[in-house]
Amino acid sequence: MEDSYIIRGGKKLSGEVTLSGAKNAALKMIIASLLFNEKVVLENVPRINDVVELLHLIRSLGASADFIDKNRIEIDPTSLNQNKVDLLHASKIRVSFMLFAPLLYKFGNCLVPNPGGCRIGARPIDRIVDGMKNLGVEIRYISRTGFYEAKLPDKPRGSFTFNKPSHTGTELLIMLSVFGKDRIILENCANEPEIDNLIDFLNQSGAKITKNNSRIEIDGVAKLKFSHPFKIIPDRNEAITYVCLTLATGGSLLLKDLPIESIGIFVDKLRQAGVEVKESPEGLFFRRGQHLKAVNIETTPHPGFMTDWQPNWAVMMTQANGKSIIHERVFENRFSYVEELKKLGAKIKFIDAKVENPSDFYFFNYKKGRNYSQTVEIDGPVRLHGGILNIADLRAGASLATAALASEGESAVNGVSILERGYEDFVKKVGNLGGEIKKI
Ligand code: EPU
Repeated sequence: MEDSYIIRGGKKLSGEVTLSGAKNAALKMIIASLLFNEKVVLENVPRINDVVELLHLIRSLGASADFIDKNRIEIDPTSLNQNKVDLLHASKIRVSFMLFAPLLYKFGNCLVPNPGGCRIGARPIDRIVDGMKNLGVEIRYISRTGFYEAKLPDKPRGSFTFNKPSHTGTELLIMLSVFGKDRIILENCANEPEIDNLIDFLNQSGAKITKNNSRIEIDGVAKLKFSHPFKIIPDRNEAITYVCLTLATGGSLLLKDLPIESIGIFVDKLRQAGVEVKESPEGLFFRRGQHLKAVNIETTPHPGFMTDWQPNWAVMMTQANGKSIIHERVFENRFSYVEELKKLGAKIKFIDAKVENPSDFYFFNYKKGRNYSQTVEIDGPVRLHGGILNIADLRAGASLATAALASEGESAVNGVSILERGYEDFVKKVGNLGGEIKKI
């Protein structure tokens, strides 16, 4: 299987990128489509490995789901006939645990494997399970089988306050509440624009959901009705990748159709780094000045600086003047790219950062006594050179391809099927910007 890129870097990349639909919206919309009792069509769905994997999983449950055009899919949930999510399929796609919502609605009970660990951290679902229990789901984990057994004896009802926000947790509880009894209130919810996109889809289909910052109210309805094809929002994580990529190589970029609010803090940080950002009817335009300035960041959930963006930011900072710091607060293992960047000559190292109250400060479940490495320092600018790079997780993958494109000479980037879990037409889009990249 072709799983590497050969990249000849050191060229200035510039131009325009047409963004694909957002992975982290499309995956949830596909799962939410199973809440209907009729066919659903979604548009602007990225043809990426994670979507293909999720469609396989859904077909294994009896429903039909496939692309009917390059970025259009049709899902027919009426033939769903399995309430047990297959372990192998589920292990390939973490959002599989969100199937609790449609399966409980359809069958009254279901079996879903523990999504388990992941390369960017432990990623437990304890908060989400608590939320489900509060809404009336009977759920227990059977360690012998590795499956959660869940039952919904009555319509969901009640309220729940997240102790710390969870993006997919918020989305799962919204889906579960759509057919609830009375009004369900969710508090301290996550605020990502992908969640708003899910709410728009459900409301367009007859749901009654209102969101006010981190408070969400859901009045149960009897059923969802498909009215017209729903369009997935553009992928802001993909956007950030191409911005960092072009700026790291000294170039410029035009992005169409991306609301600036969805990347507000990123734009603020870019401006601090001396990047020109212009909003015009053509779109958002980014151009680097002669020099980039080093700027520190700290990741937090939206509207903060997203954890998904920091690996790309790190590569850009290798080209900035001075020392910059990245403090990762959301996931406990999002620095798999650090050792790889060193191979290209980057000056990047882990440092200790004093944190007064780590249990509150970090968004993951902080365990006292465990050693965490949540902060890196980057010293720039450095002339990077080619090397052999290995991808361990999706966003790190994009940052390594970016680094290779910003490096003098040839690089091999291995494990690109991980990058392609979340990036559609990566080779073509980089090529259109003037990058020399080949998949082998
Ligand atoms: N957490 C818990 N217990 C829970 C839920 C979350 O400890 O019950 C922890 C997580 O382990 C993490 C933190 O809380 O350390 C925040 O997790 P959250 O639930 O908000 O993240 P997620 O829903 O698992 C989604 C995206 C991620 C994105 C984050 C932050 C999808 C499919 N994934 O993850 O995207 O980084 O929200 O916005 O929507 C990616 O696209 O590469 C990616 C990892």
